[in-house]
This record gives sequence, structure tokens and C-alpha cells, in this order.
Amino acid sequence: MTESAVTRAVVIGVGHYLPARVVPNAEFEATLDTSDEWIVSRSGIERRHFAAEGEATSDLATHAARAALSMAGLDADALDAIIVATSTPDLTFPSVATMVQAKLGMTRGFAFDIQAVCAGFVFAMANAQALIAAGSARRVMIIGAETFSRILDWTDRGTCVLFGDGAGAVILEAQEGTGSTADRGILSSDLNSDGTQKGILYVDGGVSTSGTAGCLRMQGKEVFRHAVEKLARTARTAIDRAGVTVDEIDWIVPHQANLRIIRGTAQKLGLPMDRVVVTVADHGNTSAASIPLALSVGVARGQIKPGNLIVIEAIGGGLAWGAVVLRW
Ligand code: ACO
Repeated sequence: MTESAVTRAVVIGVGHYLPARVVPNAEFEATLDTSDEWIVSRSGIERRHFAAEGEATSDLATHAARAALSMAGLDADALDAIIVATSTPDLTFPSVATMVQAKLGMTRGFAFDIQAVCAGFVFAMANAQALIAAGSARRVMIIGAETFSRILDWTDRGTCVLFGDGAGAVILEAQEGTGSTADRGILSSDLNSDGTQKGILYVDGGVSTSGTAGCLRMQGKEVFRHAVEKLARTARTAIDRAGVTVDEIDWIVPHQANLRIIRGTAQKLGLPMDRVVVTVADHGNTSAASIPLALSVGVARGQIKPGNLIVIEAIGGGLAWGAVVLRW
């Protein structure tokens, strides 16, 4: 195969933010028939962060955005676009992304939200790559930001112990690559959805139905059944599409929903757990924020280094699922 120059979307900055309040599993024991032991053994989650009263998704997103801008050494006006992946926006409209744009003092470019629930960051990354490849934007900030604590039913022990709040941000920049798999930047993506599976994971309220925000509802066992199979398949598709092999992957950075799903997927892919970035114990499931949070923590821990070949993969409500292969 001949290689020719291509425009790659290359990561030049990453950052994250977690709200100050940390809630250990034991806190749920006071109000629910549950235990730290049950939550840890079924999910791998030990604690999560919850946003303070008055702290909105756009606040979390703006903190993460500032951290990513600082790492890249850029002002907000150096960005052409902001994409926020979220299912828990401040308001029905305008978008969280435009609120972040204003909070950053960014006076140019465009901003919009993407909603693909837990897979939102993967969908945002693929869309940002397409904008960059098309020449519509040279620098795009993608943010995953959520306040899932606002849509939990605190009487449902099967869901409320699993989720947390947080935000992570990545800045992508157009750079010329050679077209080989040695290039830095996004090498491939694979996106999927199946709208017939709505009933196993959804929120029972909304603007045009109940007129309320609603609460998260989930058939945990059913979601689990779909997760490992679909995540392994989409990761493998993206790996094949990138023209690389599983052996070349330095890090898999999965959606952090459940340690058993993370382990099962890695096993199906034939990747040992020492090549998986895991943060679920400390963050819980932060939906669209979980992958950029894990990328940022992975860099801070010294796990992810420039030149590493990385697979991100996620599944969530919709169902919607997908994967991206990138060289850091
Ligand atoms: N504490 C104690 N007992 C509990 C709790 C709890 N917090 N929650 C449920 N139980 C009980 C159930 O009521 C059930 O009791 P029963 O047998 O008397 O009816 C028992 O524990 C077993 O419940 P299961 O649902 O069978 O437990 P399972 O082993 O499947 O674990 C879990 C549940 C953790 C939700 C698991 O199914 C799961 O992780 N599913 C994936 C869901 C997920 O990660 N969703 C995130 C959103 S989508 C995504 O991001 C991938």
C-alpha cells in the first residue's frame, strides 16, 4: 500500500476536573440495603465525586478545558471549535459547549453538544476528526462532562451506587502526517448504534414527554450482556481499520463503567490488564466524561506517553457504542 500525506487530528493537550466532594461506598449503607463489599465486588467502584449544589456541568467542563489549554500552552481564542459530549446539560438549551465558550472568554469559532450517553466522547472524537480532515477546523477541543448525580434515583440501589460526576478535555490539532500507522493522531474510528435497545438503559423523563429531567433506569444484567461483546467487536474493527495489530497497542482506555466489563473486554481482545488504564475505583461511571478523565489521569500517572498507540472504546444508552484508535 502506498502512503500519502494526510491531515491527522493530533492530541496537543489534555486535562480533567473532579468536584471536591468524594463519596465513599460506605455512605450509601446509611440509606440503602447495600454494602461497600457488594459494590466493590460487582463493579470495582470504591468512591465517586459528586458536584456541589449550584455546580453545573458547564462549570466542570470549563475547569477541564482550562487544564487542557494550559497543557497545550494556548489561549481559548486559538481554538476553532468546542464539542461537549454530555447527557446532563445545564439547560435544555443553549448547549453546554456555548456556555463553556463564554466562560473561557472565547470570542470566535463555533461550539455544540453531542449526545451519545456513555459513548459520547468516542462519537465527539470521531466528529472532531472529521471536521479537521475536512478542513472545517484546525483546533478542536472535545470535552466529556457530566453531572449524573442529578438524574439518579436515590432509592434504586441497582443504579445510584454506580455513577459519579466529572469532566475531561482533549485538544486536537490538524497536523500533516505521512499516512503511515507511525503518524501521531487519530488513525481510525468505528461508530455504532441500535435504537431498538432503548428499554435497557434510559432516563424516564424529558422535555417533550414528562417535562422533567427524569431518573436513570437500567437493566444491569442486559447492559452487561451487550457490553463485553460489542466493545470487543468495535475495538477490533477500529484496530483492523487502522492497519495495526492488537500486539502493537500500548494502552486500552475503556469507558469506566464496571471493572468486570473492562476485564472481560480486555480478555476478549487478548490484552493483559497491565495495558489497560483503569480509574473506575475512584470515579465510578461518569458516562461521557469517563474516557477523557482516564486519558488525563493516565498521562498524570505517567502511563500514557507521546507515541503510544491507544484504543478508546465505550458503550452506553441508545444503545450507542464505538472505538477510536490514535497515536498519542
Ligand atoms: N447492593 C446490594 N445488592 C444489590 C445492589 C446493591 N447496590 N444492587 C442490586 N442488588 C441486588 C439485586 O437486587 C439482586 O438481588 P436479588 O437477586 O435478590 O434480586 C442481586 O443484587 C443481584 O443483582 P444483579 O443485577 O443480578 O447483579 P449483577 O451481578 O448483574 O450486578 C450490576 C449488577 C453491577 C449493575 C451489573 O449488572 C452491571 O455492572 N451491569 C452493567 C451496567 C453498567 O455498567 N451500566 C452502566 C451504564 S452503561 C455503560 O456505561 C456500559
